[in-house]
Amino acid sequence: VVTLAKKLHIKTYGCQMNVYDSARMADVLAPVGYAPSADAGGADMVILNTCHIREKAAEKVYSELGRLRLLKAAKEDAGGRMILAVAGCVAQAEGAEILRRAPYVDMVFGPQTYHRLPEMVARASRAGGAVLDTAFPPESKFDHLPAVPGAGERSAFLTIQEGCDRFCTFCVVPYTRGAEFSRPAEQVLDEARRLARDGAVEITLLGQNVNSYHGSAGGGGEWGLGRLIRAVSEIPGIDRIRYTTSHPADVDGALIDAHGHIAALMPFLHLPVQSGSDRVLAAMNRRHTADDYRRLADKLRDARPDIALSSDFIVGFPGETDADFRETLRLVEDVGFAQAYSFKYSARPGTPAAALEVQVPGPVKADRLDALQDLLNSQQRAFNESCVGRALAVLLDRRGRADGQLVGRSPYMQAVHVEDADARFGQVVDLEITAGYANSLAGRAAPPGATAENEKAYA
Ligand code: SAH
Ligand code: SF4
Ligand code: F3S
Repeated sequence: VVTLAKKLHIKTYGCQMNVYDSARMADVLAPVGYAPSADAGGADMVILNTCHIREKAAEKVYSELGRLRLLKAAKEDAGGRMILAVAGCVAQAEGAEILRRAPYVDMVFGPQTYHRLPEMVARASRAGGAVLDTAFPPESKFDHLPAVPGAGERSAFLTIQEGCDRFCTFCVVPYTRGAEFSRPAEQVLDEARRLARDGAVEITLLGQNVNSYHGSAGGGGEWGLGRLIRAVSEIPGIDRIRYTTSHPADVDGALIDAHGHIAALMPFLHLPVQSGSDRVLAAMNRRHTADDYRRLADKLRDARPDIALSSDFIVGFPGETDADFRETLRLVEDVGFAQAYSFKYSARPGTPAAALEVQVPGPVKADRLDALQDLLNSQQRAFNESCVGRALAVLLDRRGRADGQLVGRSPYMQAVHVEDADARFGQVVDLEITAGYANSLAGRAAPPGATAENEKAYA
């Protein structure tokens, strides 16, 4: 019997794949005696699982390390020891540079080596230098992670694909996560079955470029994402499937077809377009045009008329003109998004776009971001308001701020609040939408069978 005496605090930045990885780090460390703790103060180990995508994200790590240094010193003054670790994409990108800037850090390791954490901890616990492990190892970490029970979440993440071979010219991911890799289909299904047994009703399949999934399947074959989703939908207990993040050029017919035929596949798709200008898209190496994206949106809506689209945008990519930016606004108007994220271009060391001469001035980026966000916010609000009066099936998996209030996600990923529903915590509940706001909806219990009307609407 292992006693979980030591306290482990993990702070997670960045994308959902980092959230997944942090949970797996805790799984790997449990057998060597670490139990998760919500506080960094007094912890025996603190891991920062970091994000390198934009400059601001990366800089946060060093300011957080400055704070943790004090907690580490306090623990040492009290006769204890705190192992301080930097994991994730900043660790992969900066490696030894972190140890130079913050010599009190004990361990630096990347996204592909955390299955080796028990050895790293053993090495860090012995006196002497810091541990640095940012290799891209030949073995897959997934083959070495323990098959522990799920945490009992109703909505669970499952990484099926890692890394990226697309090399968009602005992006660090191909460097921090490495080459594209798909987990074997059977390994994914095993994990999905385990999550379902432990209470999950919703699974979000994750990958940096999830729809390029091509996992080996029995008999020497390969499955794409559409086929995998079908198999996951056949697991008893799994009522809702989502996937993120997708690249427009990797959406194939089987995936579009899945949206038309698999009821458990939620009618929501995060499909980043980045820009509406063909010139900028080419400079970004996105390998599709704005019209390709418009046609793709049409095809998805032909398959599933109520599908809600979401996107990411970058404004102020090097060389972006006012005319290019207007093309982005035009694309947004043409396609219509239920929600979206937009960012000012951030030059990342080592990426091709960072070396381009014509960087866009900061104030110009800020103005474009404001204009784009005004348009996107108005579309999001209009979409939310259009849901009022409809009945939507909502997975109530979080508690709200007010007493008895629950919060969940609609099929279209909107946050929905409901009062006095405590008894329904953890369930998928039909709610009648009573109000639509900028970022959320309000609902109340709907009469039984109310959502059947929606199903008819797209059947
Ligand atoms: N795999 C995802 C991208 C993950 S990064 C995809 O292919 O879409 C999430 C978002 O961050 C990107 O879609 C992009 O909009 C933004 N992003 C990435 N690099 C950036 C940079 N250098 N500056 C600003 N935004 C960036
Ligand atoms: Fe980055 Fe996504 Fe492009 Fe890959 S496809 S390089 S993860 S933006
Ligand atoms: Fe950030 Fe790495 Fe994810 S850079 S967005 S944590 S893949």
